[in-house]
Amino acid sequence: MKNILNAPFVVEMCETTANMYRLGWDERNGGNISCLLDQSELEQYLNVNDVIRTIPTGFDAAELAGKIFIVTGTGKYFKNVQKDPETNLGIVRISKDGKNAELLWGFKDGGKFTSEFPAHMMSHIVRLKQDPEHRVVAHSHPTYTIAMNTVCSTDEKDFTHKLWQSNTECVIVFPDGVGVLPCMVCGTEEIGIATAKKMEKHRLVVWTNHGIYGTGKNLDEAFGLIETVEKTAQIYMLALGRAVNVIPDQIIKGLADLWNLTVMEGVLDLE
Ligand code: 13P
Ligand code: ZN
Repeated sequence: MKNILNAPFVVEMCETTANMYRLGWDERNGGNISCLLDQSELEQYLNVNDVIRTIPTGFDAAELAGKIFIVTGTGKYFKNVQKDPETNLGIVRISKDGKNAELLWGFKDGGKFTSEFPAHMMSHIVRLKQDPEHRVVAHSHPTYTIAMNTVCSTDEKDFTHKLWQSNTECVIVFPDGVGVLPCMVCGTEEIGIATAKKMEKHRLVVWTNHGIYGTGKNLDEAFGLIETVEKTAQIYMLALGRAVNVIPDQIIKGLADLWNLTVMEGVLDLE
């Protein structure tokens, strides 16, 4: 067996959590990440028949039965993942009935997966239907995104438009726009269901007064989506109330056409 601490999926989880912490997005235990693993790759590092313990999922995850995820632990600090991955991360397989997660590695101190496990798993279910290559759900608390969401309406077309108008990269990186949920109690099945519903149309979902979710085929893509929103939210907040030049809708459309992208409906006014 190869050393799991050198496995690309462990190394990338360490690097991504460290980057998010370094950028100031994930204070204390803020943020969580889950990544769908390929069983044949995992078998180079672990005997997948050895279940350390089972942890109730708390909801029906049967649609993901047999799927294996690496996921951050609840209450764990992104700051600490790199120096102790085996305590701060876990690898779990969803049981046949979807009621349990079978721990295959990690959560060494008796810990468990993130409190946002329902939102992650329900988002994986929806995104896999949109894109079979989907693998990652990442949640973070980036400062300017939350600030922009504090001063803007929760209308997702309006929020998306403001981002597209502030940085030419935005419509190219997320032509599908950003879904926005109102302020809700986090860590619940309810917010998981609401998040997953938004994921039918968007790879990015803002939780008002809380943070953002990004998804993708790999950690780079999920991270890059959040990074692009956060950078643009910073531009928006720095220019707040003083913007003279915003990107005209014709230019946003021109960018989308150039890259053959289908943009979120009802955002651009091209009359
Ligand atoms: P966890 O520590 O349970 O992952 O929660 C952090 C968080 O960001 C809640 O939304
Ligand atoms: Zn959070």
